[in-house]
Amino acid sequence: MRLLKEANVAGKTVLMRVDFNVPLKDGKISDDKRIRAVLPTIDYLRKKKARIILISHLGRPDGKVVDELRLAPVADRLSKLLKYPVHYEPDCIGSDVEISARGLHEGDVLLLENLRFYPEEEQDDVGFAQKLAAPADIYVNDAFAVSHRAHASVHAITKFLPSYAGFLLEKEVRMLSSLLKSPKHPFLAIMGGAKVSDKIGVIENLLKKVDAVLIGGAMMFTFYKALNCEVGRSKFEADKVDLAKSLLKKGKKRIILPTDVVLSNRRVVPANKMPKAFAGFDIGPETQAIYSEMIKSAKTVFWNGPMGLFEQKPFDKGTIAVAKAMSGCKGVTVVGGGDSVSAVEKAKLEKKFSHVSTGGGAGLEFLEGKELPGIKVLE
Ligand code: 3PG
Repeated sequence: MRLLKEANVAGKTVLMRVDFNVPLKDGKISDDKRIRAVLPTIDYLRKKKARIILISHLGRPDGKVVDELRLAPVADRLSKLLKYPVHYEPDCIGSDVEISARGLHEGDVLLLENLRFYPEEEQDDVGFAQKLAAPADIYVNDAFAVSHRAHASVHAITKFLPSYAGFLLEKEVRMLSSLLKSPKHPFLAIMGGAKVSDKIGVIENLLKKVDAVLIGGAMMFTFYKALNCEVGRSKFEADKVDLAKSLLKKGKKRIILPTDVVLSNRRVVPANKMPKAFAGFDIGPETQAIYSEMIKSAKTVFWNGPMGLFEQKPFDKGTIAVAKAMSGCKGVTVVGGGDSVSAVEKAKLEKKFSHVSTGGGAGLEFLEGKELPGIKVLE
């Protein structure tokens, strides 16, 4: 990739795509990590005396203006984090944007309105990309989390401006590529969450590299169904049982399933002997101990997806146990995906990880071995 460090940005107007798709509760930002994650790139550009225009999407407004999805609260939060005023323009293209951009001084920051208020953004529309590019000299993509989308602001736009990868995108690609290219062994992947279907591609690709895949979350029941075991009232994907069977076959014993399960009534039972009347809500204490031992002695660990219903105590124990074990592992530890990252943050362990990825879907597609459209155009 062409990297920001190679660009001459002094005195230039830099249009930077960021992913400020942050969770909002009653109009307030409930988690600003995606904003904090690009501060190093913004600081660097300000020090280099660039004029900075930030563009982002927020939510899925479907090509219409949705007032609740305006980026004004993000501009306020960014101002506070930068300790510098951030100008906000309630549109992302047009003459008002160009006037605001021309008024920027060196080191100033302007945040434009939600790109997805225009249907052309998701259509990768070339005309729209050209309008976005109009006020700028250089384009920087620092939005790894949306680089799996061939949208105008990540893809078509690179036709119009010299384009570079920002520091966050560079770090995400470096860390995730190191998992695929040169992982130290033992290399473990821990896969949780409800659906096998979301993770098939990653599990298949990682099976070529890892020593073991540890399974947790409701997807374990689809695997147990594939082994003809009773799963009681647990959630599972009936139409993915055959797929789970074929993954188990391909995995040749490297797909490790939980040995015990915590039921909805908090009782712990062997995972292959579940009672008919109950659902499983978490991995059990024996599994937690087995997984923790394996994680602690691994040299590389990648984790995506919670081990149980972690937002509801006491069913967060399996997920917390994995987070703790990873924080004690001396190898390279990478966590991705909204829920597992939240669990790591809730346990205040994020500083003990080698890398906490900002990408959910983008991270999974990258580890599936797919080429991400937003990254390919920077090569
Ligand atoms: C994300 O939160 O995963 C990214 O911002 C992409 O959002 P999307 O799935 O709506 O394209």
